Amino acid sequence: MIRLDKFLCDCAVGTRSQVKNILKAGRVTVDGVTEKDGSRKIQPGQPVCLDGEALSQTGTVVVMLNKPAGYVTATADEKEPTVMELLPADVRKWDVKPVGRLDKQTEGLLLFTNDGDLLHRLISPKKEIPKVYYAKHQGTATRADIQAFAEGLTLGDGTVCLPAKLEIVGEGESLITVCEGKYHQVRRMMASRNMHVDYLERREEGKLALGDLPRGQVRILTEDEINLLEK
Ligand code: URA
Repeated sequence: MIRLDKFLCDCAVGTRSQVKNILKAGRVTVDGVTEKDGSRKIQPGQPVCLDGEALSQTGTVVVMLNKPAGYVTATADEKEPTVMELLPADVRKWDVKPVGRLDKQTEGLLLFTNDGDLLHRLISPKKEIPKVYYAKHQGTATRADIQAFAEGLTLGDGTVCLPAKLEIVGEGESLITVCEGKYHQVRRMMASRNMHVDYLERREEGKLALGDLPRGQVRILTEDEINLLEK
């Protein structure tokens, strides 16, 4: 026997507080009957549905974090705080791993999943998933910079980048779209055009946007959002 709210957390339906709201909204049924009481005990194998879909305890999950600066993207680090420390205990329990990486000082959209196949597909260079970054930087981008990004930059060490998009959004502010994830890529691309980046935030990954998710908070992606990721 297990409490319904614990079962829902174990199924990666949401964090404990999200599960409370999901129950309150009447979205969960046990044996086909709406159940709002999280303390209700359920038997192994008893049919539990969310929005009419059957749940199982071995569910996979994709979580979005709005990463603050000051955390390294790693599952463990001896010296620095890691992004794992930002995940609520409920989420950590699902054994999620970061999808790709953001630098210690970079903020914004970072995904985690416990689905190994999905993780490998998402970080595969073959996928070329576009990622949109907002940068505050020294200098202001010019038409020549936009052109150089579009043609594919060659960095100081000879690294050749895929064509990328640079959009000017203000004085010393740009949006940069890249389809690959080389080490310090955006900072190095901007530096190669003499624009030192002072602030960097990832705002979009594929068709997913950070939206109004507060800094330091996580949310669990819906099935539709997960499907969008690979489109
Ligand atoms: N490019 C960078 O330079 N840093 C990041 O964290 C992500 C992309």
